[in-house]
Amino acid sequence: MSTFWSAYIFALTGITILGLVALIFLTRRMPGSSDPEETTGHSFDGIEEYNKPMPKWWLNMFWITIFFGIGYLAWYGIGNYKGLGNWSSAGQLAAETAAHEERYGEIFERFAQIPVEELKDNPQAVRMGQQIFINNCALCHGQTAQGYYGFPNLTDDDWLYGGSGEQIKTSLIQGRRGQMPAWKDTLGSTGVAAVTEYVLELSGNEHNAELAANGEVIYSQMCSACHGPDGTGNIALGAPNLTDNIWLYDNPELDLKQDITLTLNNGRAGNMPAWEDILGSEKVHLLAGYVYSLSHGAR
Ligand code: HEC
Ligand code: HEC
Repeated sequence: MSTFWSAYIFALTGITILGLVALIFLTRRMPGSSDPEETTGHSFDGIEEYNKPMPKWWLNMFWITIFFGIGYLAWYGIGNYKGLGNWSSAGQLAAETAAHEERYGEIFERFAQIPVEELKDNPQAVRMGQQIFINNCALCHGQTAQGYYGFPNLTDDDWLYGGSGEQIKTSLIQGRRGQMPAWKDTLGSTGVAAVTEYVLELSGNEHNAELAANGEVIYSQMCSACHGPDGTGNIALGAPNLTDNIWLYDNPELDLKQDITLTLNNGRAGNMPAWEDILGSEKVHLLAGYVYSLSHGAR
């Protein structure tokens, strides 16, 4: 905190406390100091108010709170003054983090030695991985990692970027960004409609065969470089397999044809954040083990 703001807080707090003390003195009226029948001069519909002193215990409560407040500030500090107790929220956090590190650091270190694909056989590793998952990943992928519209299901062994232990770990370390271009301008609405029918055919869904035949020509020119000549996708680009009828973008409010049309018209850009800087490599390792376990039957 800058000296100015520290001084400002000091002054403001000091003035407030002195003001409270002054207020007590100004309104205090000692018992028997003057006429017991004296009134405050207030009159409500003819009912008058005696000017009696405050009960002593009541008055003392004010003093106690004021002294408590001064003592509290002296112990915990105010502004840049650290206080006699030398306590700070940052200090407490550091102490708790150190205690936590001491307690769990060794466990994380031990798990870091176990290959990702073998962590699933260790119930404690899976449980700890799940905890980290719920705190950091469930927001997007769901509590049970089942995914949502635009957020991949991590339990089904169908992968955009590959499902080996190392590939999952790479997804976590680097983050992932799927780049599907928009086709509305290049293909026009007839082109998009044709290639949509071809994607429906590829995935074994009901389709218009005539349009799909036109779509196949467009597909081989425009799409096969990323999704593969046979439509099975490319994990180097995160281009999904279009033949397995598992969809990243299947809005429950729309039917499949509408979803595919939307994808083709506007493009898509799924974004998975990178985690190594946030969680550290040992937690990422444990998480990769947990994600791997989801589709490989944790014991
Ligand atoms: C902000 C939302 C968000 C959060 C938080 C998030 N993810 Fe993701 N994740 C995504 C998206 C979106 C994708 C798909 C990227 C794409 O479309 O190319 C993805 C992809 C993945 C993949 C690759 C899936 C595949 O099929 O190859 C894995 C593994 C993964 N996430 C695990 C995690 C884990 C573990 C965490 C917690 C540390 C996490 N994610 C947190 C949004 C998120
Ligand atoms: C530059 C590479 C690239 C090209 C070219 C490309 N795609 Fe894609 N496509 C992707 C990627 C990457 C994704 C995943 C987007 C994401 O993760 O958000 C995707 C997603 C899709 C999806 C959504 C799949 C799902 O599971 O919901 C469909 C459908 C699709 N593409 C069809 C096509 C068709 C048809 C063409 C040709 C007109 C095409 N793509 C051209 C890279 C490409």
